[in-house]
Formats: sequence, structure tokens, C-alpha cells
Amino acid sequence: MRKPVIAGNWKMYKTIAEAVDFIEKIKPVAAKADHCEVVVAPPFTALAAAAKAAKGSKVAVSAQDVHWDKEGAHTGDISPVMLIDAGCTHVIIGHSERRHDHGETDEQVNRKLKAALAAGLTPIVCVGETLAERESGGTGEVLKTQFEGSLAGLTPSDFSRIIIAYEPVWAIGTGRTATPEIAAEAHRLLRQLAARRFGEQEASGVRILYGGSVKPDNVGGLMAQEEIDGALVGGASLKVDSFSALVNYPRG
Ligand code: PGA
Repeated sequence: MRKPVIAGNWKMYKTIAEAVDFIEKIKPVAAKADHCEVVVAPPFTALAAAAKAAKGSKVAVSAQDVHWDKEGAHTGDISPVMLIDAGCTHVIIGHSERRHDHGETDEQVNRKLKAALAAGLTPIVCVGETLAERESGGTGEVLKTQFEGSLAGLTPSDFSRIIIAYEPVWAIGTGRTATPEIAAEAHRLLRQLAARRFGEQEASGVRILYGGSVKPDNVGGLMAQEEIDGALVGGASLKVDSFSALVNYPRG
């Protein structure tokens, strides 16, 4: 059984005080949510305070990015060791906003992923096609390239420790969600790629989250899909009410 994960990606939102206030309010919600794991990803500046507030609770704290080196002359970057030091357990890697705004490549995603695993973090690795790629029929090829490039060199045991997020770029922040069927089809494809590369058992165990305009009113339909093991949520994760509704998504 794959335990669902509901993860909030706060992007460049929330001060330290706002982050702590949110965590305090979501803790009792997470405490009652035995059906899923709850993760929030504050900006770097609020990580340590958020992790302190979340300590001993069911709320896991994730970073939104990481560098592959332990330390070094990398202005503006944060290492896996620093994330552990701040109290993080998870890290989002290869989000499309990093890939597009910062030119992050599959090779860099791969280096970050290996460094995060070596440090003991749980990586949430993002893949997803653009609208042009989908419309030209290239979705399968793009997902294959991203999957293979981002996960190159991983052992099946490394793979068993990661979470994948399928986030079609055309659905992120646009209000345009993939239908549950479109998302499930992409998830199935990713699981096939995983089976070929890491074996059936690992493929059936990996959690694949959907991300892209997930809201309280569409989460039920998405989560009803057998292939969808949770959600990586931007906009709707910023308010306690909507994030609580996502954590408590309708279950049949
Ligand atoms: P969104 O963002 O829910 O605001 O579309 C999702 C994401 O980028 O992880």
C-alpha cells in the first residue's frame, strides 16, 4: 500500500512568523490525518523556525531546492547538510520553476537528488511537460527523458526512498488542472518507466504525486485515481483552510 502524501509548496511566500503560525494551525489537522503524510515546503528563510514549530508533530518540513555540494563557494546556494541542520526531512528537486527560471537541467537535478539521498533527505523529484510539448504529442518522450536523466545512476534501494511529482507545466498556477484521467495516464507511464529501470516491486511502491492547480474542489477526483498517490500543491497550500481541506480530501 502506498501511503498518500499531501505536500504544500509555498514557493516565495510567507515570512517566518507567518510560517510558524501556519504550522501551529495545521498540526492538529495533521495529527488526525492518519490516512496521509503531510509535508510543507517553506522558503529557506523560514525552514528552521518551521521545523522547530513542527517538531514532534506529523507535519514534515521540506526545502524547495538544494545544492549538490556539502559546502563551497556557491553564492546563494544551500547544501543538504544545511537543510538537515535546519530540521528538514524532505526536499523538492527539479521543480519546473527551477528548471525554467534557473535553467536547471536533468543532470543538475540528478546531482541534487544523489546529494539529498546521501544526506538522508527524502527527495520529491518533479517532472512534467509544457503545453507545447503536450500539444505536439511529445509528453511521453519528455517524461522519459526527464525520468531517465534525473534518476540516472540510482540503485533500486535509492529509488525506494524518493517521491515523484508529476507536474504538467501548463497546469501550474494556471487554474487549469489536468483531468484525473490525463494525470493518471502520465502516472502510469512514469510507473512503467520505473518498472523497466528499477523493477516491478520498486515501481509499485513509489509514490507519484500530482501537481498543478490542485484545489479542495478537484482533489477528490484526482485522489480517486488509483495511480495518484497524493498532491504537490502551490496556491491552495498557502491558506490553512484550503490546505486542511486538501489534507482531508474526500475518501470513498
Ligand atoms: P499550483 O502549484 O498548485 O499553484 O498550481 C503547484 C506547484 O507548482 O507545485
